Amino acid sequence: MKPIRKAVLPVAGLGTRFLPATKVSPKEMLPIVDKPLVQYAAEEAVAAGAEILVFITGRTKRPIADHFDRAYELETELEARGKQEMLDLVRNVVPEHVTCSFIRQPHALGLGHAVLCAEPVVGDEPFFVLLADDLINTSGSNCLQQMSEVYRQTGCSVLGVQQIKSEDTRKYGVIEPVGELVDGKVEVSGLVEKPEPQAAPSKLGIVGRYILTPGIFESLRNTPRGVGDEIQLTDAIQQLLGKEKAWACEFEGKRYDCGSKLGYLEATVELALQHPDLKGEFAAYLREFSRTL
Ligand code: G1P
Repeated sequence: MKPIRKAVLPVAGLGTRFLPATKVSPKEMLPIVDKPLVQYAAEEAVAAGAEILVFITGRTKRPIADHFDRAYELETELEARGKQEMLDLVRNVVPEHVTCSFIRQPHALGLGHAVLCAEPVVGDEPFFVLLADDLINTSGSNCLQQMSEVYRQTGCSVLGVQQIKSEDTRKYGVIEPVGELVDGKVEVSGLVEKPEPQAAPSKLGIVGRYILTPGIFESLRNTPRGVGDEIQLTDAIQQLLGKEKAWACEFEGKRYDCGSKLGYLEATVELALQHPDLKGEFAAYLREFSRTL
């Protein structure tokens, strides 16, 4: 079984739910406390073994490439002032052994198309896909590490899933499981992108974490436009099921939909309450403030 060394981060989306904040800056650069969303995703992928991060970008996404590059003026300035701690924060956005690659997605044709754009760099290897606006906070192994365990056991594509409410099925890709979850995993027999509640095959919704085998690229090439007139990754995985098995992994941890304002605020509050420099003072503030509500 080939190890997973590459992670694809589709970051070309417009982020319309955060306008005007995202008029000129990418939604993936919105900070949760003191780190941009895209850095949380990159750190998760690197901790799970990724050595090559493939960003699928679009217009207005330059700051993401700059964030993962050296910042000579800032670094020189911090060095001259002896600010070693800050210098380390700036330099260690990703470790030295990690390479970042950027591919422009010329047309906004959807998530499936974005993943297909990564084929020249990914080639014939299994790979991770992470959607940076899904922030996943865990206490032990991160979400991709948990999914990698299922990949090691099965050798198949693995989809990160969570239980969702019936009324929310139209926000997610929803899987059809083969029986019940056992030890947090279940084989997938089908999947539907954003079904109406009555058409949903289960209440297991796909979150923005995937391990995919390279067979997905051929499926993507043959996938017609689906929901929203976009090439959907979910539809391509459904096609892949004709040739290969796939599994779902219900990870342990909490997922925040940081593409929505409420999810973003929840992540900010909860991660601030875990932040070593902030947690005490912030908790005291929240306790005091909640009395005024
Ligand atoms: C995408 C996928 C969907 C998945 C969701 C998770 O949808 O198409 O299957 O459930 O991400 O966040 P989007 O939220 O980009 O519309």
